Amino acid sequence: MRRLVAGTGWKMNIGAADAARYATDLLRRLAKLDCTAIDMFVLPPFTSLHAAAAAFGESPVATGGQNMHWEESGGWTGEISAPMLVEAGCRYVELAHSERLQHFGETYELVRRKVDLALRSSLTPIICLGETALEKREGRADEVLAAQLLAALAGQPDARVPDVILAYEPRWAIGTAQAASPEYVAARHRALRDILRQHRGPDAAERTRLIYGGSVDPENGKDIISIADVDGLFVGRAAWKAEGFAKIIELVVAAAQGKSASLTAATA
Ligand code: PGA
Repeated sequence: MRRLVAGTGWKMNIGAADAARYATDLLRRLAKLDCTAIDMFVLPPFTSLHAAAAAFGESPVATGGQNMHWEESGGWTGEISAPMLVEAGCRYVELAHSERLQHFGETYELVRRKVDLALRSSLTPIICLGETALEKREGRADEVLAAQLLAALAGQPDARVPDVILAYEPRWAIGTAQAASPEYVAARHRALRDILRQHRGPDAAERTRLIYGGSVDPENGKDIISIADVDGLFVGRAAWKAEGFAKIIELVVAAAQGKSASLTAATA
């Protein structure tokens, strides 16, 4: 059974002082909840990483970067490296967010190099995949997802694939008024699992976590996380307050209990 995930990316929000306050607030809200069955992460801006990691301390809420460079060090003004993220307490790094692709010219060839370095640095890459509105209209979503997935993981052995988290984030659903419908999410996640099976084998298909992001909130999140092939929720705006993220975490904890009960029933 795949461990479910609840994560939030703060984008260019929440400075160091607010990050520490957020962490204290979130941990207080989670105090009575048994979160041991799920993985949780927050992705603060770089300058808030130390404060967030210190405030989350030994709690099960991990931190991660929102991006990193593909080289370990050197003449790359304005960039941050994998070893720097590790030193700042990170366990995760988000790669290929659509805002990086759209505004900063990132390509999946660069993402592939970053994935490789992240894995060699013991960071879990959260690799975003998603079609544009045009690609969706043209009925090319699954083809686009396959190309992105295969490019990002090129060169990695099949056994390494479950060490990444794949985040399906349709580009037309990020920062908008509406998430993709549960039916649409279910179809794309099924397609992603099939692509993994076909190209990376049954073990990678079975064990790799596929999480959904794009206008998730505590209302629509309930239906989305109950989908069999959805292994987590990745949230922006709705989790920029600790209260919102706590609600998302509650949904994921409940879904983990439901999914493990139905798995037990199916194998009994
Ligand atoms: P949103 O952001 O939840 O605000 O749509 C999601 C994301 O960018 O990952």
